[in-house]
Amino acid sequence: MVFSLAAILGVALSLAVEASAKTIRRETYPQGLQWGPCKLNTTLPVQCAKLTVPLDYTNNSDNRTLTLNVIKYPAQKEPKRGSILLNFGGPGQDGLNSMLAYAPLQAPVTGGYHDLISWDPRGTGNTLFNCWPQDPTGYFAGLGSTQASSADTATGKLWAEGEIIAETCYNQLKDIGDYVGMAFTARDMIAIVDALGEDGMLRYWGISGGTTLGSTVAAMFPDRVDKVVLDGVMNAHQYYNMFGEPEMVAATDATWEQFMRGCIAAPQNCALARNHHTFQDLESAMRRLFDTFRNNPPVYNGSLVFELSFLESHVYNALYSPSKWPQLATSLDGLLRGDLEPIVASISEGGAIPSQAQAILGIRCGDKKLRTDKLADLGADLNQYRRTSRWFWDWGWGYYVMPCAQWKFHAKERYNGDFRVKTKNPMLIVGNTYDPVTPLVSARNMSEGFEGSVLLTHNGHGHLTLSQPSNCTNTAIQRYFLEGTLPDPGTVCEPNFPLFDPAA
Ligand SMILES: *[C@@H]1O[C@H](CO)[C@@H](O)[C@H](O)[C@H]1NC(C)=O
Ligand SMILES: *[C@@H]1O[C@H](CO)[C@@H](O)[C@H](O)[C@H]1NC(C)=O
Ligand SMILES: *[C@@H]1O[C@H](CO)[C@@H](O)[C@H](O)[C@H]1NC(C)=O
Ligand SMILES: *[C@@H]1O[C@H](CO)[C@@H](O)[C@H](O)[C@H]1NC(C)=O
Ligand SMILES: *[C@@H]1O[C@H](CO)[C@@H](O)[C@H](O)[C@H]1NC(C)=O
Ligand SMILES: *[C@@H]1O[C@H](CO)[C@@H](O)[C@H](O)[C@H]1NC(C)=O
Repeated sequence: MVFSLAAILGVALSLAVEASAKTIRRETYPQGLQWGPCKLNTTLPVQCAKLTVPLDYTNNSDNRTLTLNVIKYPAQKEPKRGSILLNFGGPGQDGLNSMLAYAPLQAPVTGGYHDLISWDPRGTGNTLFNCWPQDPTGYFAGLGSTQASSADTATGKLWAEGEIIAETCYNQLKDIGDYVGMAFTARDMIAIVDALGEDGMLRYWGISGGTTLGSTVAAMFPDRVDKVVLDGVMNAHQYYNMFGEPEMVAATDATWEQFMRGCIAAPQNCALARNHHTFQDLESAMRRLFDTFRNNPPVYNGSLVFELSFLESHVYNALYSPSKWPQLATSLDGLLRGDLEPIVASISEGGAIPSQAQAILGIRCGDKKLRTDKLADLGADLNQYRRTSRWFWDWGWGYYVMPCAQWKFHAKERYNGDFRVKTKNPMLIVGNTYDPVTPLVSARNMSEGFEGSVLLTHNGHGHLTLSQPSNCTNTAIQRYFLEGTLPDPGTVCEPNFPLFDPAA
C-alpha cells in the first residue's frame, strides 16, 4: 500500500491553488513569431516558429519558461482573414504532426482564407509526458489494458494497475507534472493569439478532447472569443468534476447498432450480411461472439490468446471511422468462421499520427479534482457507466479512470466555473448523432451553458464530423468562419454518403 496525501484525505477536493487574477503572469510578445522551415518530413507548405511562455502562470517569482513549438499551414486564398487555431484532441495529441494529417482535411472546410495554426500543447511534443521512457518488455504498456467485463477479478486488477501507473508517473515526472493541464494550455493559446499580432481575438476549431480545451479557453477568456467551433464535444463538467466520464459512452451502443443495421441495409458491401439477413439475427450472432471471446477465447498461431479485451477494443476503435466499417465487418465475419487472419491483418496496420505516450494521463488526470485511495468511492461513476452502455460500459476504465483517481499531480490551475458564460461572439457547437465517444448529448449540454451558441446536429456516424463528411455541415462551419453567421437552431445536416457506400 502506498502512503500518500490522497490516502489521508480520502476523497479530497484538489489542494491546487485557485489562482486569483492578480497572481497571473501576463507576457507581451512585441517580436511576434519568427516563421521558418519546419523540421518535419512533409511536402506541405507549413512553417514553424517558437514561442516562450511562463512554465507557471500562477507564480510570479518563478521565472522558468517553456518553449512552445508552433506550426502554420498558410491560407491558400487572398485576402487573408487572420488565423484559426486548431487542437486535435486526446487530450495529449501533438499539434505539429497532427497538423500534417488534418490540415488538408480542415483547410478546405474553412474556405482557405485563414492561416491554420497549431502547437504542441504542453505535455506533448518536446515536453512529452512519458512515464516510462524505457519499457523493453512491454510491461508498462500492458497495464490497464484489461476490460473490466472480461472477468470478475478484472476491476480489482485494473485498480491496482492504476496505482502502479500513478506512482510510476509521479516518480518519473515530479518536476513537470503539475504544470500541464487545460487552464495553462488555454493561457498558452492566448499567448499565441497575442504573438500572432492580429486583432487579439481567438478563432479556434477544436475537435474531440480539443473541445474541452475550447470550452475552457472560452469560459476563461470570453472577451477574446471571435469564432470558436467545438466538434465532437466532450462533457467538460464530467471531465473536471467526476472520477469517470460515463457520458462518453452514451451513444456507443447506438453507433454499434447502426453498424449492424447499415450492414443489413447494404448486403452487397458487408461481409456479415452474407449469413445474417436481419438486425436481430446479426445482433445475436455478435452477442454470441463476445460471449465466446469471454468464455472460450481462440488462440492465434499457437501463442496468442485473443481475449475479450482485444475484440472489444478492436470494435470500439473501428466505430470511430465509418470508412473502416466494411473492413470491420470482414474481420468479424472471419471470427464467426474461426478465421483470425482478417482481424490480425487489420490490427497490424499502423496509424498516421504517432502515439503520445502518457500525455492523455498527464493532462486529464491532473485536471480532475477528485482523488481517492478506495475503489469503492468510484462505485457511483462505474455504475453510471454500466447503466449507460450495455456493450461498452467498461471503456476507458483502465486507460484513465483508475489511474486518474489515484493521480499524485494536481494541475496548478484549473477552470473552476460552471461553463455558464456569455462569450463576446457566439460559438458554434457540432455533434454527431452516432458518435461512439463524444455523443450529441454532451454537445447539447455544453451548448446550453454558452449563451447564444448554436448546436448543429450532424446526422452522421463515427467520431467528429470529418469521419462521415457532409457538405451541409462543412458549409455551416465555413459560413461561420467567413461571415460569422450561425445555422438556424435545430438545423440537422445529412452526410454525403450512406453507410457502407463504396463511393464514401
Ligand atoms: C519521409 O516521408 C517519405 C514519404 O512518406 C518516406 O518515404 C521517407 O522515408 C521519409 N523520410 C524520413 C527521413 O523519415
Ligand atoms: C514560486 O516560485 C518560487 C521560485 O521558484 C518557489 O520558491 C516557490 O515555491 C513557488 N511557489 C509555489 C506556490 O509554487
Ligand atoms: C530567475 O530567478 C533566479 C532566482 O530568483 C535568478 O537567479 C535568475 O537570474 C533569474 N533568471 C532570469 C533569466 O531572469
Ligand atoms: C507465429 O508464430 C511464429 C513462431 O512462434 C512466429 O515466428 C511468427 O512471427 C508468428 N506470426 C505472427 C503473425 O504472429
Ligand atoms: C451537464 O452535465 C453535467 C454533468 O453530467 C450535469 O450535472 C448537468 O446537469 C448537465 N447540464 C445540462 C444543462 O444538461
Ligand atoms: C459535395 O460537394 C462536392 C464539392 O463541391 C460535390 O462534388 C459533391 O457533389 C457534393 N455532394 C453532395 C452529396 O452534395
